[in-house]
Amino acid sequence: MEHAGKTIVVLDFGAQYSKLIARRVRESQVYSLIVPYNTPMETLSEMKPAGIIFSGGPSSVHQDGSPKPDPRVFELGVPILGICYGVQLFAHMLGGKVERAPEREYGIAHLEHSDATGIFNGVDGRTQVWMSHGDRVVDLPAGFHVVGTTENSPYAAIADPDRQFYGVQFHPEVVHTPQGKQILSNFVHRICGCDASWDMGSFVESAVNEIRRRVNGKQVLCGLSGGVDSSVAAVLIHKAIGANLNCVFVNNGLLRKGEAELVQRVFRDNFHINLDYADAEDRFLDALKGVSEPEQKRKIIGSVFIDVFEEEARRLGHMDFLAQGTLYPDVIESVSATGGPSATIKSHHNVGGLPEDMNLELLEPLRELFKDEVRALGRELGLPEEIVGRHPFPGPGLGVRCIGEITRERLDTLREADAIFIDEIKKAGLYDDIWQALVCLLPVRSVGVQGDERTYEEVCSLRAVTSEDAMTADWFRFPPEVLQRVASRICNEVKHINRVLYDVTSKPPGTIEWE
Ligand code: XMP
Repeated sequence: MEHAGKTIVVLDFGAQYSKLIARRVRESQVYSLIVPYNTPMETLSEMKPAGIIFSGGPSSVHQDGSPKPDPRVFELGVPILGICYGVQLFAHMLGGKVERAPEREYGIAHLEHSDATGIFNGVDGRTQVWMSHGDRVVDLPAGFHVVGTTENSPYAAIADPDRQFYGVQFHPEVVHTPQGKQILSNFVHRICGCDASWDMGSFVESAVNEIRRRVNGKQVLCGLSGGVDSSVAAVLIHKAIGANLNCVFVNNGLLRKGEAELVQRVFRDNFHINLDYADAEDRFLDALKGVSEPEQKRKIIGSVFIDVFEEEARRLGHMDFLAQGTLYPDVIESVSATGGPSATIKSHHNVGGLPEDMNLELLEPLRELFKDEVRALGRELGLPEEIVGRHPFPGPGLGVRCIGEITRERLDTLREADAIFIDEIKKAGLYDDIWQALVCLLPVRSVGVQGDERTYEEVCSLRAVTSEDAMTADWFRFPPEVLQRVASRICNEVKHINRVLYDVTSKPPGTIEWE
């Protein structure tokens, strides 16, 4: 998408925080994207960046093969902000000197600055910053001078105002640098001259134009799951091309209570989107009969999904594009992890796999956005909160929460318990504090007593976790009365459950889902 002259490009040197840098810049309402450190200079100039940020990175400039940018980047004539390893690159490549520090500096430090350049405009004279580095600059390159120091870093912030090169040894993008956002905002607004003009409204406008241009009257197929990403992608594409969007929603029989109705109501009735509803419950449940092994369940669900989806797609007639709700973190996921940038960039197949012989081109209108931006976009497009604010739900659905054998009756039991759990969480005002809440039906039965009668029924386990990105998670601390209400309602209202457990396992070692 075109953001010429208004884009801040983050050159990624393998920093764990690259994504965060781009997000902070976008929070300043300036468009930002991340590219691998070795992006060819021609590509970089074509992006017409208003400024460049060198991310940090785990390497040492002295290591063989450590990542270095094309030296012509210093001749592009655009402002550069080097963060951490980025500072060492200035010193190493422009004629200064970098040495191994006697001790790694890690944690909180206090920056004192004497700024006349604008990078610390509005920042307290002494402010907390977050440090994490092993190397340090010992000689500045010509043109640079010190603009900030900490207890242990005489070169904590350096600047060459003529060339508009700035370096900070600390990490302005992390929360432990409370005024870091101001520093990044100073860089993008005051130094690079970007306006605060990037917001969801302007994104919608340029995305709609871009989708119209690419699709150009052809047909788009979109698998709608009811999750945030595919929902927002569908509504955005629909805004651009209306009836040329064809959505397919597969009911695999493993959905939450009321899900099929919700999706049809929102997309068909409210948005008037062409929605093909495939009721494939029997096919999935037949294929899953007698299967308890988690991986086998997942494989069966995935492969039946592809079959059903392809059949529906063919019924709809010739299609040219397949729309997917791929997000920015999926696109850039592996850049930092391996240091071998472009080769590892992958596309993420949310709908379970691209029907290959259908010869479809991918349309991924969210591939520049982070998850919270997708939610903001969904709200901008008028999607209801019950869709944009919802917890993640796995593709294999209740199939991986119905532990042991999957039967229609057990799924109905699980659906009821799940609906009660979510309902009580919402009533307690806790839904948005929780990353994900779910119920598993366990393959054990237990003895109970209900109204003077002995029962021997199913057991369910509640799970609710907090998390930033689903990579790690902690169990949610409920007020006991909420758990008590959930347990009592489940035992009273759900026919086959007589015992409720709460899962207090963090991730790791437990995954969020049980299977
Ligand atoms: P785990 O269970 O691995 O899950 O801790 C991490 C996150 O991923 C979700 N999840 C899935 N999402 N298809 C999906 O779209 C899947 O097959 C799948 N399996 C797990 C899970 O709900 C959690 O948010």
